[in-house]
Amino acid sequence: MKKTKAGSKLKPRASKVLEIRVPRLRVDASTGVPEVESCATRIPEGYEDIVSGVVATPAQIRRRIHDLGRALQRDFGKNEWVVVALLNGSVLFVADLIRELEGPLILDFIGVSSYGGGTESGKLVYTKELKFEVTGRRVLVVDDILDTGRTLTAVIRKLKDLGAREVRTCVLLDKPARRQVKQVADYVGFTIPDWFVVGYGLDYAERYRHLPFIGVLRPEVVAETARGTAR
Ligand code: XMP
Repeated sequence: MKKTKAGSKLKPRASKVLEIRVPRLRVDASTGVPEVESCATRIPEGYEDIVSGVVATPAQIRRRIHDLGRALQRDFGKNEWVVVALLNGSVLFVADLIRELEGPLILDFIGVSSYGGGTESGKLVYTKELKFEVTGRRVLVVDDILDTGRTLTAVIRKLKDLGAREVRTCVLLDKPARRQVKQVADYVGFTIPDWFVVGYGLDYAERYRHLPFIGVLRPEVVAETARGTAR
């Protein structure tokens, strides 16, 4: 406990987020990927009307990213990789992930947006091109979530067309139930059921990216956003 100059003890401030009850996770023995079986019922105060359950707490996200970083560093060795993060959803994830890596690495961003803005994937539009030349380079694509698989498939194809020597993929979340194209990621944070999730970079209509945890969006929020009454 911290002490003031006068020696009186300061009470540590209670962190509401740390009080989240841990969701049930089952680790797939063959892949080592945690599968989220059920959501925690305890939601951090103030977020009850946005999410119906917590998929991953800040501590769980941190631990999993640490493990992913170790696996990536082990596989990449001393080779230099270009880390290509997909805007905007993977910004928080990639920022934490690269701090777990020793490198050498180069960080670049590509903007891909599925036209629409709701909970359904639409037409893919590139909103920002790469700054760095990937020809002959090893590339690690980092995305927030692998859902239908259309985005990752399109980005991999684009990078290969640009002449990348090798393309690997790392996603924080995998939602295999919604897959429309045959696509897997080389490194997966958590496998989740068919839930629409927000937080830790993931949005609904550009909202809720800042939440420190990942939660399941309440259907009422979708209706309120459509009416323009969501907060
Ligand atoms: P696809 O379907 O191409 O999707 O694999 C990739 C992009 O769709 C967005 N997405 C979501 N965003 N919660 C979100 O906030 C979700 O549950 C979700 N599912 C898909 C996301 O931008 C992802 O990069």
